[in-house]
Order: sequence, then C-alpha cells, then structure tokens
Amino acid sequence: MQNSDTNRASLIVGLQWGDEGKGKIVDHLAQEVDFVCRFAGGHNAGHTIVTEGKKYALHLVPSGILNPNAVNIVGNGVVLSPKDFIKELEQFDNIEGRVYISDKAHLLLPYHALIDQAREKLKGDKAIGTTGKGIGPAYGDKITRVGHRVGELLDPEKLTQDIMNYFNIYRPIFDAMGVETPNDRDLLADLIEYKEKLGLYITDTTLMVWDALDNNKNVLLEGAQGTMLDIDHGTYPYVTSSTTISAGACSGLGISPHTIGEVIGIAKAYCTRVGNGPFPSEDLGKDGEYLREKGSEFGTTTGRPRRCGWFDAVAMKHAVRLNGVSNIALMKLDVLDGLDSIKVCVAYEIDGKEIDYVPYTLDGVKPVYKEFKGWAKSEGAREFSKLPKEAQDYILELEKMCGAKIGIISTSPDRDDTIIRD
Ligand code: GDP
Ligand code: IMO
Ligand code: MG
Repeated sequence: MQNSDTNRASLIVGLQWGDEGKGKIVDHLAQEVDFVCRFAGGHNAGHTIVTEGKKYALHLVPSGILNPNAVNIVGNGVVLSPKDFIKELEQFDNIEGRVYISDKAHLLLPYHALIDQAREKLKGDKAIGTTGKGIGPAYGDKITRVGHRVGELLDPEKLTQDIMNYFNIYRPIFDAMGVETPNDRDLLADLIEYKEKLGLYITDTTLMVWDALDNNKNVLLEGAQGTMLDIDHGTYPYVTSSTTISAGACSGLGISPHTIGEVIGIAKAYCTRVGNGPFPSEDLGKDGEYLREKGSEFGTTTGRPRRCGWFDAVAMKHAVRLNGVSNIALMKLDVLDGLDSIKVCVAYEIDGKEIDYVPYTLDGVKPVYKEFKGWAKSEGAREFSKLPKEAQDYILELEKMCGAKIGIISTSPDRDDTIIRD
C-alpha cells in the first residue's frame, strides 16, 4: 500500500508545440531536487541548458544531469536509442549512480529511423515533418506488441534472434520501402556493445521512484514535446507518437495520479512550431521573421527553422485544463523586446463564428487578435518590478486569459535570468 506520507512529485510539461524552454526550467529547479525523471518521447526532444556560458543540448538524458547530486531516470514511457544515449552520455563525467534506464522502456533501433524517413518520403506533401529519428515506428512496434524492451539488451544473443525473427515477418514491408535490415552478425555486435556500455544503468526504475517518494525525496518529472503534439489531444495527425501531457507521467513512470503535486506548464511568451500542421497564430511576415532571428528559433535536434507566431491564449487555456497546470513559466519574454506592438490570439474564427475553445481540428481556423503595446527591454531582468510596465501588463493579462498563475518568467537563456514571483 502506498505510504500516506508519500511526498508528491512536481511535473514540468510543455504547453505549446514543444521547445518552450523546458530544459532551462528543469535545470533551474533541478539544483534543489534529488531525482529528475523523463517519462515520454525519445531523442526527438532537444532540451537546451545554458550555464556559466556553456551550452548543453540534451535529447534523452534528463536535464538534472548538471546537478551532481541528482539521480536521472529514463522511464518506461520513453523510447530509447542506445546508440544515441551512449553518445550523449559521453559529454558528462562521474555518471555512475546518477543515471538509470527503465528495463521496460522500448528500444529504438536504427531501422526505426530508416522506416520513419521512408514513410515521410512516401507521404510527399502530406508528410508530418517528423524529426526522422524513428519515434513513430518505435512506438508503433510497442503498441502493436512486436517491440523489444531495454531489459532484453541484457541477453544480446537472444535479442538478436528475436529481432531476426521480427525481420523475417516484416521484411516484405521493409523491402517495399527500400529499407535495409542488418545481418545477424552486425546486429549482435551492436547489441553486445550496448549491453557493455548501458547494462549498468538498466533497472526497474518504477521501484526506484516509489522508494524515492516514500522517503520524501524531491522528485521532478520532466516532460518532452508539448501539449499540442500529444497523440490524443494534439493536432492529429501532425503530432508525435506519445502522451506528452501530464497524464503521461503516470503510465510513463509507473506512478499514481495521487503522487503528482505541482504541475508547472512551460510556455513561450509567443509561439513556435517545427514540422507541418495547423498553427492559427503563425506570422508569415516580418514579425515572424523578427521572432525567429531574435529568438534563435532553429531546432535543437534537427536545426530546422521553427515557424513563429503569436501567443495563442485559446490553445493555452485548453493546455492548462488538460494538464492541470498550477503554475505557468513564461519563457523568452526578452525575445519580444523592441517590438512596437504585440499580438495575442484571444479567439478563433471558424465559418464566420468566433469560438474560445479548441475545436476538433485547427485546419482553416483564423485567429482573432488583441494588440498590446511593446516595450524596449526586459532581457536579463530578475525581478518582476524591474520589468517595463508594458511587459508587466502583458503578463498580467495573459495570466487572466489562461486561467493559471504565471509564477516564473524567463528573460534570457541563462539559468540565473529567471524571475520567481511570490
Ligand atoms: P525545450 O525543448 O522546451 O527544452 O526548449 P529548447 O531547448 O528546444 O528551446 C528553447 C531555446 O530557448 C533554447 O535555445 C534555450 O536556451 C532558449 N531559451 C530558454 N529560455 C530563454 C529565455 O528566456 N530567453 C531567450 N532568449 N532564450 C531562452
Ligand atoms: P522538445 O522536447 C518541437 C515534432 C516534430 C514533428 C512532430 C512529429 O524539444 O520540445 P516525431 O519525430 O516526434 O515523430 O515528429 O513532432 N516534435 C517536436 N517539436 N519540440 C520537440 O521536442 C519535438 N519532438 C517532436 O517536429 O512536427
Ligand atoms: Mg526542444
């Protein structure tokens, strides 16, 4: 039975289309936590941390890695590419005892990426614009119950045989797509290397998280991607293949909803999206270009230019409700510095009617904007009272529109340029 004194975990979740700045906030909060746990996605994520002038791009390793006292957990809800995980770990020292991978996480192997890329090519102008990392095919194998789990890496000979059997069944599909499958000798060599390098970290992480909570440790749950990319609640089919919303933390780590305390939603002070799919408040003019250049809006994982536009208060209200957000961290306020006027999407127009909720599809939806006066400089501010009056007004208005407190404001990529409101 769950201990009634069990501590509650805090959860970080993206509220838009990803890249909101989750990495910076997880790193900021991770300075005081004992455990940081990733619960969804794979190396499609790119979480950037900037500290003491040094920049780290994390894809699979949880963002607590820069706190020498934090234990980092890759939960069962993640799809793990051993090759990419090993490469990412190489940039950090003294990781023994600080990184663990769930034995129930599913393996993402190179053939998943090849299938992802082949499918995207076949879709032509209907392509999703995936990261090409193999996320959809790896989750697809999991859901159709033909996937392989991290725990199987501990017996590379048996796993090789099982994957060869899988190829025997699916090879006609691989062949039709022009995707080459490895031979058993090369596959075995790779799997042996993965076992040597990762075997030490593979364990039952659910038990570890339960134990941490029972012992009143501070646990932070790190979401990946964003609410509007969620497989159920996002702009399907232009979404990723996992449950990105806060509910995903329960199944993606093996914890109950009762153990989740504060939900911190991360949102940019404007909006971006990478890949295809509807984006009602996208600005294709000079303001969108200004946001892209000033905000360095180029993908951390793929380098693709991000589509840019205005804060969408309708989608935000939806995301606050879906995730049970108690506190919003508003990121990249400084990127709006220098604009004369700032727009916020406050309603959608659809078939000549205005609505204030997210409909079945955002295709063809037009934004209804409210305009705000711009300001000269918020960059580097560390106190709310030091922000220009117009920036303060902007934040207070957004707070009313979204239905959650904006308790954290970020004014530069640096860990310390962060305002915490009472
Ligand atoms: P994540 O995927 O949500 O972790 O976000 P990304 O790391 O993909 O993208 C966010 C980008 O914005 C990174 O390059 C961060 O260094 C940067 N960033 C985060 N907070 C701020 C901020 O307040 N101001 C500015 N100018 N950049 C920021
Ligand atoms: P973080 O964690 C932004 C997008 C891709 C594509 C769609 C499907 O850094 O916020 P996939 O490769 O997952 O099948 O691609 O999802 N996407 C992201 N966009 N940030 C991310 O992660 C993303 N992860 C996936 O661009 O549109
Ligand atoms: Mg990112």
